[in-house]
Amino acid sequence: MTTLQQPPSATTAALADPGPPFHITKEEERRLRLAAAGIAPSLVIGQPAAFDEYVRQLMVPPVVMDLFRKAADIHLSAWEVEAMRKHIAPTGLDGLPGPGLLRRIMMEKARLDKTHPPYIRVACTGRGTWDHWATEFGYLSADEEPPGDIGSPVVLEIWPAQHYSPIHSHGNTTGIIYCLAGQLEVMSYEALDWNAPKRGLVTLTPGQCAWLDGDTYAVHKVFCPMDGGGGATGPEYMSATGEFAASFHVYLNEWETALAADGTPSRDEFEYIDELTKERKEFATYSDLSWNVLRRVLTNTDLG
Ligand SMILES: [Fe+2]
Repeated sequence: MTTLQQPPSATTAALADPGPPFHITKEEERRLRLAAAGIAPSLVIGQPAAFDEYVRQLMVPPVVMDLFRKAADIHLSAWEVEAMRKHIAPTGLDGLPGPGLLRRIMMEKARLDKTHPPYIRVACTGRGTWDHWATEFGYLSADEEPPGDIGSPVVLEIWPAQHYSPIHSHGNTTGIIYCLAGQLEVMSYEALDWNAPKRGLVTLTPGQCAWLDGDTYAVHKVFCPMDGGGGATGPEYMSATGEFAASFHVYLNEWETALAADGTPSRDEFEYIDELTKERKEFATYSDLSWNVLRRVLTNTDLG
């Protein structure tokens, strides 16, 4: 009888690397979740449910708590979530050829960057790279296209199920990653390096946020653990469902907070680790869409 065997090198590599998104074993995951539950100041801000959570959140800098409190009433309405799901699902929309606007952007971003599955950045004010697609592909009529406005420290990020970011650093900015819908996992790293020690792993649900400033928790990776329709995630993974998580991100430059500043680097660029080459690279931030356009597209979406 012939037995098919994997080459020894492949077997060893599989054992050494449990794979994306975090490249950790179940045992390491358990350890990192426990580690996160003991870190002060707390990686997660939310309404504390226990004395120890309250105490660990006391150590979060006041400027960050202020951002969290100001975001506390922000939410997506049920119809906005449902319309986003329609625009992410591969099945498309009634009466329009091709997929929804968000799926269309996911596919284009996946074509342009094969190092990790794409997520979508929506500028809460300002313009997005693919804003013009909303009229070009018929999600909006030409007279509905809004005028552009000024740049924004606030973005909405949309994470299709099983998609993830590279490890990246927010430099000296101060900010929050506030979960609005679905579920997100955030891994915190001690430094910007492929082999950097992992500090802890947390899950965010709506109403909770992760945070960062130049001194604390500036390096992380974000993953949406929801149902992507089967298969293991990886650099060229593409979700086969409409499931997603959404998060609201505020990044203040140092000179915009009351903290002492040396002025580098800002939210206009960030550094990350390429998932394939494992090298450190720079990325100039841009947005895929503006909220001005997306909100209009969602309003026009037939939910029937
Ligand atoms: Fe980030």
